[in-house]
Amino acid sequence: MSNRILIIHGPNLNLLGEREPNVYGNQSYVALNDMITSHVESLGYECEVFQSNHEGAIIDRLHQARLDSVGVVLNAGAYTHYSYAIRDAIATINIPVIEVHISNVHARDEFRKNSVIAPVCKGTIAGFGRDSYILAITGLVRMLEGAKND
Ligand code: DQA
Repeated sequence: MSNRILIIHGPNLNLLGEREPNVYGNQSYVALNDMITSHVESLGYECEVFQSNHEGAIIDRLHQARLDSVGVVLNAGAYTHYSYAIRDAIATINIPVIEVHISNVHARDEFRKNSVIAPVCKGTIAGFGRDSYILAITGLVRMLEGAKND
């Protein structure tokens, strides 16, 4: 039985550190993934990080996740705002998916205010910089464990 948490980074996130540092910070993509992996492992789960700039590859990995993961933290990048195909893939699989954004998408361009994936995700975290991933992972694990420490 898997106890893997899958982190999916969508398009352009592989260039974190170089990409618009005023919006996304200076920390490298590799350093971000190190932080994410340590956090997931500290909570007792296995971590896999997947990144793709291609919509179909993200959909294929989401499909696979229903067989090999207990939950997903997904930063779909700009696909968030218009990919009905990714939305349908999330709705198809029977494991929780948490939407995450580094930036506060509501305080930026108009087109970023709408998420077509939000209605099929279990929750959304945005605007906390790299900590958005930490909060999303923590929330996902609490959800998986039925928030049993309340
Ligand atoms: C993002 C926000 C999206 O609007 C943007 O297209 C990204 C990154 C974020 O993490 O803040 O690529 O998902």
